[in-house]
Amino acid sequence: MFLKKSRDRGTFRCLKSSNYPKFGAERPVKMGTRNSGIFELVQSMGHEQVVFCHDKATGLKAIIGIHDTTLGPALGGTRLWDYASDEDALVDVLRLSHGMTYKAACAGLNLGGGKAVIIGDAKKIKSEAMFRAFGRFVNSLGGRYITAEDVNINVNDMEQVAAETQFVTGISSRPGGSGDPSPVTAWGVYSGLRAAVKHRLGKDNLAGLKVSVQGIGAVGKYLCGYLAKDGVKLVVTDVDQSRIDYAVKEFGAVAVRDTEIYGVDVDVFAPCALGAILNDETIPMLKAKVIAGGANNQLKEERHGAALVERGILYAPDYVINAGGLINVYNELIGYNGEVARKQAGNIYQTLTSVFADAEKRGIPTGKASDLFAERRISSVRGVAGLRNTITNQPWSKI
Ligand SMILES: NC(=O)c1ccc[n+]([C@@H]2O[C@H](COP(=O)([O-])OP(=O)(O)OC[C@H]3O[C@@H](n4cnc5c(N)ncnc54)[C@H](O)[C@@H]3O)[C@@H](O)[C@H]2O)c1
Repeated sequence: MFLKKSRDRGTFRCLKSSNYPKFGAERPVKMGTRNSGIFELVQSMGHEQVVFCHDKATGLKAIIGIHDTTLGPALGGTRLWDYASDEDALVDVLRLSHGMTYKAACAGLNLGGGKAVIIGDAKKIKSEAMFRAFGRFVNSLGGRYITAEDVNINVNDMEQVAAETQFVTGISSRPGGSGDPSPVTAWGVYSGLRAAVKHRLGKDNLAGLKVSVQGIGAVGKYLCGYLAKDGVKLVVTDVDQSRIDYAVKEFGAVAVRDTEIYGVDVDVFAPCALGAILNDETIPMLKAKVIAGGANNQLKEERHGAALVERGILYAPDYVINAGGLINVYNELIGYNGEVARKQAGNIYQTLTSVFADAEKRGIPTGKASDLFAERRISSVRGVAGLRNTITNQPWSKI
């Protein structure tokens, strides 16, 4: 669902996107009138609360989206981005916070979905005062929204936010900080990859299989390490030659250039770099039987999930298989223990096994089956009286 500005000044058109078809209306809506379209959009995507934050002194412009707190407080990072328009920022925060609800639900966490965006150029607007102002807005929500780092926000920025609120994760200055989530994310991806191999290829053991990995960054390099230990033959690519050299030296990987990665003859393809890489151009090139990697938003459009089914390729939905990072920060809220976080990330194996079986039973793409998995969990809990949050074990009203 995208809200696009039409030539008619002040009018926005809610356009159905095949990426987010369930998000609602397709008719034009008039801004500045009684039925302005913002509530229609919020309602169609099911959000509980959207908070527009403006600080006069620092010029902070931010939007916090709280999608659903049925399972617990809404947790999700803050993205700093120079959006082309305020409407683009709103749509992004609604879309991202909606995604967090599904991610947390599938991961079995007692968390709802939330996200925040700060509008502006990361090179120009960052200041202690601005982040502290943002922290005060987060604090004003009393724990309904818990923030963390996202694109263009680093640990130092979050430390400044944390000066004003306890509702922050992913920082190191407090006892129990969880540090770099990438090893746990990669462990979750490794576990999900094993589940996909078992389901599609009938193998419990990865030894001797060929796996291609796109992107040897924070997640990709740990994933390569776990796979190499199991005797997997790796084929890798990256835009950074030093990262390719690292994988070749450390894991005996074979290197290929850029787009060659899509066509290599492997059992599993693990995208760990970019979004939208499963599309009309790449899907016909694929020889892998399984796609299981850590990158976010791998399908360019939802219909590409069905295109993979048609080609007999099993796709591990990205937000399920890469939930290890969220699992890691969640553990900060309950008292961080790296082993517990890793064990929970390992449960992605069981979750994906259920998702694959359900997709097969219903004859639907795996991404649709994981959406249903999340929705089933949320509706089973909705309506439970006296729901408590995970920080203080207090009723919501008393956080
Ligand atoms: N780090 C986490 O804990 C985490 C958690 C959940 C999801 N993710 C997602 O996983 C993906 C990777 O995250 P990361 O933290 O490893 O990022 P990163 O920036 O550390 O690594 C990305 C790697 O991809 C490479 N790359 C960029 N463009 C490429 C291209 N066109 N072809 C091949 N390689 C390319 C980069 O050079 C880099 O080595 C992202 O989509 C991220 O959103 C990460």
